[in-house]
Amino acid sequence: MKVLPLVAAVAAVFAFSTANAAPDADAANKVLKDNGCTKCHSVDKAKKGPAFKKVAADLKGKADAEAKLTKFLTTGPKVKMDDGTEEEHKVVKGDAATVKNLVQWILAQ
Ligand code: HEC
Repeated sequence: MKVLPLVAAVAAVFAFSTANAAPDADAANKVLKDNGCTKCHSVDKAKKGPAFKKVAADLKGKADAEAKLTKFLTTGPKVKMDDGTEEEHKVVKGDAATVKNLVQWILAQ
């Protein structure tokens, strides 16, 4: 496995060069876990709620995508579950920076 150090080095350089631009995936995943979001969502599989890849694809190129998701995740609108019942969507606990990072991460899936 001689390629591994090279892969690690490239990954490290990449992570460093995009540190200011890319959302923090570890922080986003921690928020998802702490808030119980993973009960209903995953990145690439639909559960009770849509896969984040699908959410990102649907909103791709929309100028107000970030504002829309931020509003969605901070106001808890009524949503339809897959069994047809309606309930208020979960609100993300955390400050504005936490929510912003999570929204940007979801949109990057
Ligand atoms: C009880 C299940 C459930 C939990 C828990 C839940 N969601 Fe959802 N979520 C849904 C459903 C159902 C929808 C689809 C709503 C619709 O299409 O009307 C949804 C939609 C979304 C969307 C897409 C919104 C859009 O406008 O396209 C995002 C993003 C999202 N959820 C993120 C989260 C996050 C982050 C958490 C944790 C704070 C979370 N969800 C917790 C069920 C859940």
